[in-house]
Amino acid sequence: MTAHSTYEPKTGIERWLDTRLPIVRLGVEMLDFPTPKNLNYWWTFGGILTFCLLTQIVTGVVLAMHYQAGGASAFLSVEQGIMRDVNYGWLIRGIHANGASMFFIAVYIHMFRGMYYGSYKAPRELLWLLGCVIYLLMMATAFMGYVLPWGQMSFWGAKVITNLLGAFPIIGKPITTLLWGGFAVDDPTLNRFFSLHYLLPFLIAAVVALHIWALHVPGNNNPTGVEVQTKADTVPFHPYYTVKDGFAIALFLILFSVFIFYEPDALGHADNFIAANPLVTPAHIVPEWYFLPFYAILRAIPDKLSGVIAMFGAIAMLFILPWLNTSKVKSMRYRPTMRVYFLIFLAVCLVLGWCGAQLPDDPVIPGVHTFTLVDSDLNSYVWLSRISTLYYFAYFLLITPMLGLRETPLPVPDSISKPVLSGEAAKKD
Ligand code: HEM
Repeated sequence: MTAHSTYEPKTGIERWLDTRLPIVRLGVEMLDFPTPKNLNYWWTFGGILTFCLLTQIVTGVVLAMHYQAGGASAFLSVEQGIMRDVNYGWLIRGIHANGASMFFIAVYIHMFRGMYYGSYKAPRELLWLLGCVIYLLMMATAFMGYVLPWGQMSFWGAKVITNLLGAFPIIGKPITTLLWGGFAVDDPTLNRFFSLHYLLPFLIAAVVALHIWALHVPGNNNPTGVEVQTKADTVPFHPYYTVKDGFAIALFLILFSVFIFYEPDALGHADNFIAANPLVTPAHIVPEWYFLPFYAILRAIPDKLSGVIAMFGAIAMLFILPWLNTSKVKSMRYRPTMRVYFLIFLAVCLVLGWCGAQLPDDPVIPGVHTFTLVDSDLNSYVWLSRISTLYYFAYFLLITPMLGLRETPLPVPDSISKPVLSGEAAKKD
């Protein structure tokens, strides 16, 4: 928070409150917060994410009023009850189900923004780590939410993913049994998933509060990666960024509405319109799009335990990233070589996502089934996943530490005001 507050309580009630719980002061300090004046639109995604979280919580609470967590009733309570009988149930569910995808689109942009501009580097490591915790919680919440409609993909997705934990020696099986509430995915599993799916968003909200607190100690990073030096480098958060964030949220809502009103099922899977049936395995079990890159990493490795370790390892890379980056320059705006590797990394994540969606026996090129030189049982998309997985880990463990030591960055401006006033920023991005 700012060291000096501009807030002066005027009325007796305001003074009374301010000496007991200075919550109004806190609000005013946040609105006045000196924010770098050169933040671009990539910095609006924090606000967009806050909006997404609130939307998910509000619509989720309403959905829970009509949802019935039971193997025999869950599917009907959603597909018949909420989608047809409840007034505007289709809309609330449309917002919540598509909202999950919108939330992930926003979080991925937010994370890649942080990676590009080096926002995770000192003194913002803890801010980044809290973000990683939020991301983990988001994945757990989304996974459990997808199970609730108890369609075919809900059921089989839950089965495949929970079974992965069983790969760990000794602890694997007891954890799976605990998670299932028995010896198979069944009613008790659905009940505990519902309970946790309701709980976790509030935990996320609490970690977001810490995240924003940790942001207000060092203040925002900015596209130059040069820290704020004088007041001239900043503007108050309100009205400058309240307006900018508001405008970005309005644009985001247009995309969101396109999905809700025109393509409400585009991001879902057709099999989830069929009630869960433990006796019929779907032809192709795929997770939601936002898990696909990790699913590809899991399937790239033939050994189950190694695959699971690689999948969790891929997420663990994010946690250690602040200590892998050896560069003295934060922003990739001044790191042309690193920028190329970063763009390849971005492409590799997309390729992994695409690979994760392929059928195990899909050929990449129709008619060309196998990459016979190496392994006649595997098709070429498996090899694409393997090469991409290698790059994914190399980016974190080799490229990021080594390039930071070897590269010659471009000259970094002395202060934020300099490139803004001379118009350099526009030329360099
Ligand atoms: C519910 C999810 C999240 C919410 C509501 C949220 C919220 C915010 C807000 C409001 C800001 C300030 C505005 C901005 O820089 O965009 C911010 C900054 C930041 N967030 Fe998040 N965040 C979330 C998830 C994450 C995740 C998953 C990560 C990384 C793994 C992350 C890393 C960061 C970093 C590094 C900054 C500082 C950016 C800078 O100043 O350059 N956040 N976040």
